[in-house]
Amino acid sequence: MGEGVLIAPGFTRTPSGELVCDGVSLEAIADAVGTPAYVYSARTIREQFDALDRALSSVPNRLHYSVKANGNLAVLRLLQERGAGVDIVSGGELYRALLAGFSADAIVFSGVGKSEQELRDALHAGILMFNVESMFELEQLNEIAGSMGKRAPVALRVNPEVKVDTPHHYTRTGERGNKFGIPYDEALDAARQALAMPNIELRGLDMHVGSQIFQVEPYRNGLARVLELLEQIRAVGAKELRYLDMGGGFAVTYDDEQPMDLEALAAALLPMIKKSGLSLITEPGRYIIGSAGVLLARVMHRKKAGTKEYIITDAGMNDLLRPSHYDAYHSVEAVQPRAGRSIVDVVGPVCESGDFFALDREVEDVNAGDLIVVRTSGAYGYVMSSNYNARPRVAEVLVDGDRFAVVTRRENYEDLVRLEPQHLEWRTD
Ligand code: LLP
Repeated sequence: MGEGVLIAPGFTRTPSGELVCDGVSLEAIADAVGTPAYVYSARTIREQFDALDRALSSVPNRLHYSVKANGNLAVLRLLQERGAGVDIVSGGELYRALLAGFSADAIVFSGVGKSEQELRDALHAGILMFNVESMFELEQLNEIAGSMGKRAPVALRVNPEVKVDTPHHYTRTGERGNKFGIPYDEALDAARQALAMPNIELRGLDMHVGSQIFQVEPYRNGLARVLELLEQIRAVGAKELRYLDMGGGFAVTYDDEQPMDLEALAAALLPMIKKSGLSLITEPGRYIIGSAGVLLARVMHRKKAGTKEYIITDAGMNDLLRPSHYDAYHSVEAVQPRAGRSIVDVVGPVCESGDFFALDREVEDVNAGDLIVVRTSGAYGYVMSSNYNARPRVAEVLVDGDRFAVVTRRENYEDLVRLEPQHLEWRTD
């Protein structure tokens, strides 16, 4: 399957067959930092950012990196230096983005349930705009902004209700009946109401149709619907519309899929955007960081059970949930080449049968002590990890050229219990 395919420019094999990240040996990182660890290539992050930025450059546009994909501060700083904005979905992500040095006017705030405190904090910071997903949120924002003596900049996130194809139904958001966005039929009325609200400034329209999308059609169809709405909204008197946010979702290669055709995407969409006269915002997460990361793990042992053979690694589903949660394919490769191949399940030590990275997969014959990588794990990897089975969360490492740095230290056992008081303070109110 995908073994040996060049998925990311940052991960290559030396003439002797060893897998390295840019100029650094993964073996050396494992020796220095231990395993499991996420390892990211700064070069790949920059190249992915530049490729998308270039493809969209014929219209006024800014890439707002979707922090949820990987919110590590070092990753955010790298992208901030590159000229990115960010897309956030919580107060915690607002905190991270500001700490990483993003100016408030480089931040858009999406999400279907924003708390009052989160709305206040973002208004106080002065973000570029709220992607509002319901009438309730619009009214709440109008009220809170009024109480703070401010006008809230808003884009309406509209559900364009188009057909979207992604590997798992959890990651489709632009189809009729999904929980995200304002239902298409209600959007014009929402815009009318927004225009009548004293503390709301209607700055744009927004959509996000799903995640890991290779095709142009969901974007083209979605955008066409949103642009139709734009004309209707302009006709009822909107004057401050400046932004068209088309969300994220651009796919990366996990196996042997054809890479996303950015030229085709740009050729289909940019003329539509040019015609609208609005500035384009995109919210890519996975495209920027997905292929830039691997989960580096060590084989603990091999085990036979009935007709099956298992490779048990020191990383588990709590470290990388995607295979278990979305039935997602991730390529598994040996760091040092090993002779022979066999069909195995690559699994973790967590006490769940759902704890796996690959099922019935042909992989090189790795043995106890050997290093493996689970590839394309830069997005929705560490951020979705947990302490299940009281397993400390792993370290994150950034490689830049021939240097590497720990960008998140590995948790220890004390970290596991640090929020739990030794002595309970019982209360009755
Ligand atoms: N904008 C909004 C409003 C979103 O909800 C998302 C992702 C993005 C942008 C970024 O999408 P991306 O470019 O990364 O596809 N945990 C799942 C993916 C969930 C995506 C959630 N929303 C996975 O591991 O496949």
